[in-house]
Amino acid sequence: MCGIVGYIGNKNTKEILLSGLKELEYRGYDSAGIAVLQNDNFQSYKAIGKLVNLEEKTKNFITDNFAIGIGHTRWATHGKPTELNAHPHTGESSYVVHNGIIENYAKLKKELIADGVRFLSQTDTEVIVHQFEKNLKSTSTAFDAFSKTIKKLEGTYAILLVTKSEKESIFFAKHGSPMLVGTNSENEKYFASSDAPLIGQCNDVNYFEDGDYGYVNIDELTIFDINGEKKEPIFTKLSQNKLSAQKDGFRFFMEKEIYEQGDVIADTLMGRLNDKEIIFDELDDSLFDGINEIKLCACGTSYHSALSATYLFERYAKIKTSVEIASEFRYRKPIMSKDTLFVVISQSGETADTLETLKMAKKVGLKTLVICNVDNSSMVRLADTCILTRAGVEKGVASTKAFATQVTIFWMMSLYIAQRRDSLGTKEISRQISLIRAIPTSVKVKDSLHERIKRLSKRYLHGHGFFFIGRDIFFPLALEGALKLKEISYLHAEGYPSGEMKHGPIALADPELFTIALLPQHLLYEKSKSNVEELSARDSTICAISALEFDKADDFIKISSHQDYMLEFFEMMVVVQLLSLEISVRLGNDVDMPRNLAKSVTVE
Ligand code: G6P
Repeated sequence: MCGIVGYIGNKNTKEILLSGLKELEYRGYDSAGIAVLQNDNFQSYKAIGKLVNLEEKTKNFITDNFAIGIGHTRWATHGKPTELNAHPHTGESSYVVHNGIIENYAKLKKELIADGVRFLSQTDTEVIVHQFEKNLKSTSTAFDAFSKTIKKLEGTYAILLVTKSEKESIFFAKHGSPMLVGTNSENEKYFASSDAPLIGQCNDVNYFEDGDYGYVNIDELTIFDINGEKKEPIFTKLSQNKLSAQKDGFRFFMEKEIYEQGDVIADTLMGRLNDKEIIFDELDDSLFDGINEIKLCACGTSYHSALSATYLFERYAKIKTSVEIASEFRYRKPIMSKDTLFVVISQSGETADTLETLKMAKKVGLKTLVICNVDNSSMVRLADTCILTRAGVEKGVASTKAFATQVTIFWMMSLYIAQRRDSLGTKEISRQISLIRAIPTSVKVKDSLHERIKRLSKRYLHGHGFFFIGRDIFFPLALEGALKLKEISYLHAEGYPSGEMKHGPIALADPELFTIALLPQHLLYEKSKSNVEELSARDSTICAISALEFDKADDFIKISSHQDYMLEFFEMMVVVQLLSLEISVRLGNDVDMPRNLAKSVTVE
């Protein structure tokens, strides 16, 4: 994900910006850049790939007296990861860095182009600097031009802008994307999009609130709120612990990653839908020509997301779809026919078994596609085509946000294929797209929900096993819930189709058997409920997750009322993730690095 740094002071500005960006590296990025205004002169450098490339480019650039500077690491969303698309973006005499999305950028760009402005990049960000320079012509001060610019922007942003029209200030604005400013006894000012770059540089920091904008110079920090009223900064002491800074105040990376699912899914969606259609620029129009079947292959959590795809693809795209565990597929001499699109799913893009199945498919000449989170990984390089999930770096070994983005991609893909095969009417596609837009909200963790799960978790620390049960696409979610619990609590858990319990596992039912029942209101509710009642009648301890009250449950976790089962899916996903997390915490386990597990398994 993108990162921002900024600095005003007398020290080595270039080094401060580069080392600040280094602290943000763990968030993932594909290009980086800086712009420094020193002795009336702007110098800007950008490079694609890792920061060493930017370091190499700037090795002869010296900043040894007062300067102001801004820097950025970019995770491509609007436009490919090229040098031109990297930040900072420039106009005639100003530079800007930005995190977030300017939703009305297309409209602003059109107006600016009509005024004769030439755009160099494909980004939404570039409109900010041109709009600012346009406003400069009609305002008395550069800051007025900046304020006017901010008022025109819709969407989310953390912005730093520097300009020759006001050579000793940095202008800033924040709405929906995080940013803070720190200061110290030497009057230096440091900006960043999260704590880590400021640790060791300043003790006192002000976290901007949505709607804040203003300017800093060496002597002052001036903030205005969303209504344009001047406000005092609220300085707090910055913790000097780098690891905890990377966790953004959360106890564990897994917890942070659960909480950021709304943001990363918004990135997954970005540029890939409008009101009427799903757009995957990365897919060639001919990809589905001659294809009658889709075969998905993966391991672990990615296998569960692939399973969810089988329901969506057959239901919406009306295309035959099957899924296999990669380590099984490799050795069973499978029949692979040319009318099959072979899809591998992997967070890392490096899992040995999955990679091997991709090689097998390529060898027999199948069309191949990878759904992956890591650009330039082995699978991305090998497959014919790739869709990146844009979940950002996932540090917790137990995967959460990667799964969420994979399922999001599959839901979108099912509609994308449906468009091509005319298997869903345009009205239904539009309806589903509006549901997809609601995923980020459905995964937002509510304090009350987390508190309830925290409290309930103490009742689930023993017993002789857990069954997570669900029907239809809630079966893969049940599998994923059970896997999460196993991975970090070391308790035995199984995912099972609700309707299948009576064919064996129900023999285990007693008060010490914990059933986590997924009961979506909008999909086979009555049928699922009957299955849970069968278990309840045999005295299994039931924890039901549903929007509808269920009196046969011992415990009940209420989710919001949604319009569609897929939004229930996403909220329940958060519930099972948090439940595993809180059980693991109570058991005193290492949540982020559970025993015996590796994040990426590159051996057979
Ligand atoms: C490992 C991880 C799992 C992951 C699986 C597949 O076992 O511990 O969390 O789901 O690999 O990884 P991939 O990177 O291919 O999705």
